[in-house]
Amino acid sequence: MREQIDRLRREIEYFTAENSKHLEEFRIRIAGKKGELTELFDRFKQLLPEDKKLLGRVINELKSLFESKLKEQKLLFEDSDSGETVSDKSLPASADGVGSRHPVTLIRNEILEIFSHLGFTVADGPEIEDDRHVFSALNFPPEHPARDMQDTFFVEKNPDILLRTHTSSIQVRVMESQKPPIRVVCPGRVFRNEAISARAHCIFHQVEGLYIDEEVSFADMKQTLLYFAREMFGSKTEIRLRPSYFPFTEPSAEMDVSCSICGGKGCNICKYTGWLEVLGCGMVDPNVLESCGIDSKRYSGYAFGMGIERTAMLKWQVKDLRLYFENDVRFLRQFQAAL
Ligand code: DAH
Repeated sequence: MREQIDRLRREIEYFTAENSKHLEEFRIRIAGKKGELTELFDRFKQLLPEDKKLLGRVINELKSLFESKLKEQKLLFEDSDSGETVSDKSLPASADGVGSRHPVTLIRNEILEIFSHLGFTVADGPEIEDDRHVFSALNFPPEHPARDMQDTFFVEKNPDILLRTHTSSIQVRVMESQKPPIRVVCPGRVFRNEAISARAHCIFHQVEGLYIDEEVSFADMKQTLLYFAREMFGSKTEIRLRPSYFPFTEPSAEMDVSCSICGGKGCNICKYTGWLEVLGCGMVDPNVLESCGIDSKRYSGYAFGMGIERTAMLKWQVKDLRLYFENDVRFLRQFQAAL
């Protein structure tokens, strides 16, 4: 039996498969129903206990040798379905590098991470939406001119089914399904019927934020956004809020951050103003709370929304939006270090 084990060990050690068919034949010959290793195990079972002690370890080693050989040889043929190709081990190693995360994913993760430190959880919603979640529950009446601010792609008319133009639709879904206190950030892809250029695209990404509780104030919002801006753009960053208009918030504002390139002195990135526009925000309009079943006398809240590509552009001074969608690896590779 010793001899048989030694012979089989050598056979396994020296085996190299020519193709996957050859490998399968080898497997059957060794470990099939009538295979040599199977037979050895059958004989082993009939040995006296003291012989078993002697040979047990050796025969088990043989089994693991066979299994690792099989695994190693299988890898060689994994990618070829014809079973005919043999991998040439003398070829130089492939120069394929590891991939890198897309800059949009990197910035999205960073935004979500910053808000997670403040207790915000992540909420999701559908890309194909109805009129209620994108417009009417957000206080856009049917003929409201603000609807024109967002050039909508319609999937169906009457009743309207459309591609969401902003992630504010997720706010509505969250408020419909959760009771305050609510503290969520909602990342997602949005769609607008715009001509593609360096500054506009028909697909882009946003992150929406929503905080609803008793006695939430504009000052709470300002402090939260200041924390975000400093985490995102550096600890020296300052913010300013400019009055603005959104149907779903009252009052509404747009937030600028001090330009991190020139430190606020003025450069061509901030168009010599010292400030860069980052996001829209405001106190959730009581009409929005009521249309989602939340008592606006008891609860108040704030919301904000920002573009992920825009934030990435500000952080990395990428001036052409189209680069984020073309998947040119020469562009994407540059973010490897940002992992
Ligand atoms: N939905 C807005 C847009 O797409 C962004 C926005 C502004 C979201 C103000 C908000 C907000 O939640 O309060 O332009």
